[in-house]
Amino acid sequence: MKHDIQNRADIELLVNTFYGKVQKSTIIGYIFNDIAQVDWDTHLPKMYDFWASLLFSEYSFKGNPMQKHIALSKLTPITNTEFTEWLKLFNETVNELFEGEKAEETKQRAGNIVKLLLHKIQS
Ligand code: HEM
Repeated sequence: MKHDIQNRADIELLVNTFYGKVQKSTIIGYIFNDIAQVDWDTHLPKMYDFWASLLFSEYSFKGNPMQKHIALSKLTPITNTEFTEWLKLFNETVNELFEGEKAEETKQRAGNIVKLLLHKIQS
């Protein structure tokens, strides 16, 4: 039986599993690995904080995602195609691991942020 996203350990599992898929994606993997050369030991904990802040009002995340993605989009195209792949992998991961109200909220929020980022990058 799957359970809902309940705590930080659940968020860590979600984030680790999701970015595992991202790294293998032929559509967006190279953006993280080759273009941005992401340091995963730094990026993953940042993403735990990001999601814990959003979902559990933890206020541990400090950063500026908007600015980071706008800068990144100047190095490589990040269009509807890339965001659609991101969201597909994200929702797939949530559905594989969890079930419940918080899981639904997480997918909803990810979808909203995708729309916002896409809008900002295109404008
Ligand atoms: C195709 C879509 C996306 C790509 C290629 C992408 C790529 C990246 C990369 C390479 C970084 C690291 C930047 C750096 O530290 O230098 C980053 C940071 C980040 N991303 Fe994304 N991202 C995407 C979509 C999203 C979405 C939809 C969200 C939120 C739901 C998100 C949330 C974040 C956050 C919170 C950070 C940390 C920002 C900071 O350090 O201030 N990303 N992203």
